[in-house]
Amino acid sequence: MRRGPTLFRTLVAAAALTVSVGALSPALAQQTKDGLNPTGQNPTAESVNEEFLFKQDPKITGRISIPDHKAANLIQPAGRDYRAFRESWLPWIGALAVLGIIALLGAFYLWRGRIRLEPNADSGKTILRFGGFERFTHWMTSSCFIILSLSGLNYIFGKRLLMPLIGADAFGVISQYAKYSHIYLAWPFMIGVALMLVLWIKDNIPNRIDWQWIKAGGGFLGKGHPHAERFNAGQKMVFWMVVGFGSAMSITGLMMIFPFALTDITGMQVMQVVHSLIGVAFIAGILAHIYIGTLGMEGAYDAMGSGQVDLGWAKDHHDLWVAKEQAKTRNDSRISPHQVPAE
Ligand code: HEM
Repeated sequence: MRRGPTLFRTLVAAAALTVSVGALSPALAQQTKDGLNPTGQNPTAESVNEEFLFKQDPKITGRISIPDHKAANLIQPAGRDYRAFRESWLPWIGALAVLGIIALLGAFYLWRGRIRLEPNADSGKTILRFGGFERFTHWMTSSCFIILSLSGLNYIFGKRLLMPLIGADAFGVISQYAKYSHIYLAWPFMIGVALMLVLWIKDNIPNRIDWQWIKAGGGFLGKGHPHAERFNAGQKMVFWMVVGFGSAMSITGLMMIFPFALTDITGMQVMQVVHSLIGVAFIAGILAHIYIGTLGMEGAYDAMGSGQVDLGWAKDHHDLWVAKEQAKTRNDSRISPHQVPAE
């Protein structure tokens, strides 16, 4: 039918294209050589390239007409540094902190063994070390802390360690509940830290006795028991760690729970870096505390269990405190019904 003229037109067009591309080639070669087009202009001179954009720290914004100014943020190049920290450095730092302290405690246990109750004339009698409200505060704070730690570690290690074991679906469900628990248990934890501060600050002011205790190796390294008041220097360190780290975790955590309330995206990334680094250091510190309160020292757990400790143990480890309590008991006729007089 009419195939002849169509074929002819196609052949003519192809020949024309070949000729014109051939004629352009020297010009194209010239452009790649010196970066200029045939008219002598650099075609990318005025245009925005990726490298230029990424140097526009801290963020690249567009123009918008809606009231939410945050929506104008297109790219935040500094986020690459943040991602590198979050995905590469943090898991290593976290693993080193947590596994490192477990290895150290294991080595200490093998070297020193369990610190045993040493029977003496006062063994068998008891003295009240922590009252009901103090123990309630301790266990509320510590049970929240344990769940916060596990859900926090899931943010860092979950997709690497847990997901391959249980599969993506189960990991998704677990992570969702972990996130809820992290957000909601942060509140009783913060209240608990504030209560601990109020309850125990008066017994945790550092003084000269602490220095003597440290010089004597806290009784862990040498023989005998250095003098101590209600809390020895090691316990005071635990207290100030809980108050200091607890406050830092609270402030940085609140900034993330209420995004953009007080800071922008860069600020929130800084908050996350501080929150995660202090978080892993906090977990390491508390693991050491748990060790000494359970496996490390016989008789210590009762203080937070029933509240009553062996009087012989108390005289060994907190002699100045026992002396003060006994003086109070002698002068005070209102002995608590739960309290077995110390003498
Ligand atoms: C299951 C874990 C825990 C156990 C078995 C445990 C055990 C103990 C024990 C036995 C004491 C009393 C020591 C004494 O006689 O003076 C104590 C005190 C204390 N605990 Fe814990 N604890 C745990 C978790 C925590 C957590 C998670 C925190 C805070 C985040 C914490 C903060 C404190 C503080 C501030 C004190 C008072 C200072 C001191 O004695 O070191 N504890 N704990």
